[in-house]
Amino acid sequence: LRSTGGLLEVTLSAAPAAATIGGRAASVLGYNGGLPGPTLRLRAGDRVRVALKNGLAGPTNVHVHGLHVSPEGNGDNMAVMVAAGESFDYEYRLPANHPPGVYWYHPHHHGTVADQVFGGLYGAIVVDDPTPIETGRERVMVISDITLDGAGTVAGASAAQRMQGREGDLVLVNGQLAPTLTLRPGERERWRVVNACVSRYLRLRLDGHRLQLLGLDSDRLEKPAEVDEIVLVPGNRADVLVTAGSGSAVLRTLAYDRGTATSGGMMGGSRQRATDSDVILATVTVGGDPAAAPAAVPRQPAPADLRGATVTARRELDFAMGMGMDGGSMMAFTINGQEFDPDRLDTTVLAGSVEEWTLRNSSGMDHPFHLHVWPMQIVAQGGTPEMAVVWRDVVNVAAGGQVTVRIGFTDFAGRTVYHCHILDHEDAGMMGTILAR
Ligand code: C2O
Ligand code: CU
Ligand code: CU
Repeated sequence: LRSTGGLLEVTLSAAPAAATIGGRAASVLGYNGGLPGPTLRLRAGDRVRVALKNGLAGPTNVHVHGLHVSPEGNGDNMAVMVAAGESFDYEYRLPANHPPGVYWYHPHHHGTVADQVFGGLYGAIVVDDPTPIETGRERVMVISDITLDGAGTVAGASAAQRMQGREGDLVLVNGQLAPTLTLRPGERERWRVVNACVSRYLRLRLDGHRLQLLGLDSDRLEKPAEVDEIVLVPGNRADVLVTAGSGSAVLRTLAYDRGTATSGGMMGGSRQRATDSDVILATVTVGGDPAAAPAAVPRQPAPADLRGATVTARRELDFAMGMGMDGGSMMAFTINGQEFDPDRLDTTVLAGSVEEWTLRNSSGMDHPFHLHVWPMQIVAQGGTPEMAVVWRDVVNVAAGGQVTVRIGFTDFAGRTVYHCHILDHEDAGMMGTILAR
């Protein structure tokens, strides 16, 4: 769905949907009846009107992940609650200098985000390049995971899976299990890849073919970077050129150890590990006549760099997992010792200022940290300065590690949130509120 004349009007109906996954009939959730929802194609400066219709059994809402849009009004307002059977109209305006790239949308109703995303509610947003670049055929690839029970319905998560962050048994590309993609020898395509998994980290590999990264999240590289592997933590997106070699190959995600929810035998020693094996996502077959050599990608503008900026405030956010207040079996997921409270204001920043935040993880597992509205520039990892200019809207904070980011609150006032993008952790309370004024 593409904007015309600077406006995109779209209806998103969130409802139970029928799907065929790996040849099996499945009952999932979907926007507009399918997995994933429609791709929204926008340009900087566009207005977007989303009419959300809630055909689910419980409340939902929709969030435009990574878009730099005002948190005022209903734009980035994840606090909007759309009851079952109700509708809600969102309106967003992308600033004229909105960065191009891949973004996405998903529900954000606190407490059911993981269940709804795991069920199938997600879709891609593409913000076009200001000057089109000749890249070859484009494919949007929304990667998600899901577990189906014997009856083909989406499996719920156990308490242990929620603590660890659930990972589905099946990893899907655009709702399909292990699809086959066909390219001609030497043919170049542009893949817009979204990690829409609730908790799964992706380490993408496609051996035998050339991968050139154009950008990740809203980051845009001046020239494409040759890579062997692309790591996408939950919520990250990659914009990548794929040039076919001569042989067929599989697109895989490699094992990633993101640690465990248990530490020091707190859970009686029952360690729940993240999925530890490679998964085949798709098969790429190469056949037919060789394609003409693709055109070079023109140099892109240099990204903004806040390393020389004057920092007006420094903060620390500490991510921890500990015993719940009740001393019971549920673990508390906290930022600076507190679980999410929508009525409490945790962080106040001045619009127009640049802040430096140190994200510290004192727990035994990784937490992918996401801030709404404003992208973050990574300036140090584990105390070592980052030499490259790296912008992300989801930053991984490794178990026991720390990352320092700078954030330019250059525009927009209003209230929004930051949180762990392992959506089970977010639902469990690893989220805070922020007001720019
Ligand atoms: Cu992708 Cu607050 O979310
Ligand atoms: Cu977001
Ligand atoms: Cu987390």
